[in-house]
Amino acid sequence: MFKWLGRLKWYWKALLGLILVLGAVSVFMFVFMVQKDAEHFESDSYVRTSGSSASTVVVYFSRNGHTQALARALARTFDADLVEIKACDYPLNLLGFMHAASSARNHDRCEISPDVVDLSSYDTVFLGAPIWLRWPAAPLWSFVEKNDFTGKKVTLFATMNHIYKQEAVDAFKKSVEERGGEFQEFIYLKRGRIFSQLGREEFLGAIGTLVENELKE
Ligand SMILES: Cc1cc2nc3c(=O)[nH]c(=O)nc-3n(C[C@H](O)[C@H](O)[C@H](O)COP(=O)(O)O)c2cc1C
Repeated sequence: MFKWLGRLKWYWKALLGLILVLGAVSVFMFVFMVQKDAEHFESDSYVRTSGSSASTVVVYFSRNGHTQALARALARTFDADLVEIKACDYPLNLLGFMHAASSARNHDRCEISPDVVDLSSYDTVFLGAPIWLRWPAAPLWSFVEKNDFTGKKVTLFATMNHIYKQEAVDAFKKSVEERGGEFQEFIYLKRGRIFSQLGREEFLGAIGTLVENELKE
């Protein structure tokens, strides 16, 4: 059946070998990525117990739990109220990943819950999301466009593997300012490229450092 292989010149055999190796590496990387994308990062839950009303609120969307861990740490540090934005369109499977990528590519907006939050009693709003295709994820844009930030100090926070676009942060700042907010800064945590990411303890340590720095300012 493979007699024709023996008749091939050495360079055709080398090319065929290279194609097979590259194919195998691509399949391995794809399976690794899909498996990693299906993992959820668990962190300690946060419930505000203080009696007085909070002056800070942390609003976030998180698909795999990393931004949630950062959001919870910020809320704990600033004794803030915590609001999770849910978006059912991005389950932890291949379809969810592909939809997330296409939403990011097209700068789509999506159904979220809650879509409107009464922010009137807060001075400071932290808004968080993962970075998708170098932009904050779609659900956070949907939230910003539906809410009123008049007179609020707004900080954007994100987790990502390793790269974002400054243009995206500038666009986010503009969107907040168009809705009356005073944009403060963008804070973020990089987890590292997919084959060399921070382990659980390292990631939690990095959150601690980031949040401490925020507190000092
Ligand atoms: C569709 C998609 C696109 C992504 N694009 C980027 C990207 O452009 N840059 C980056 O550094 N990380 C990117 N990531 C990785 C996430 O930003 C990173 O895993 C983040 O910590 C996930 O946060 P979460 O656990 O709160 O969902 C992407 C992830 C997904 C699902």
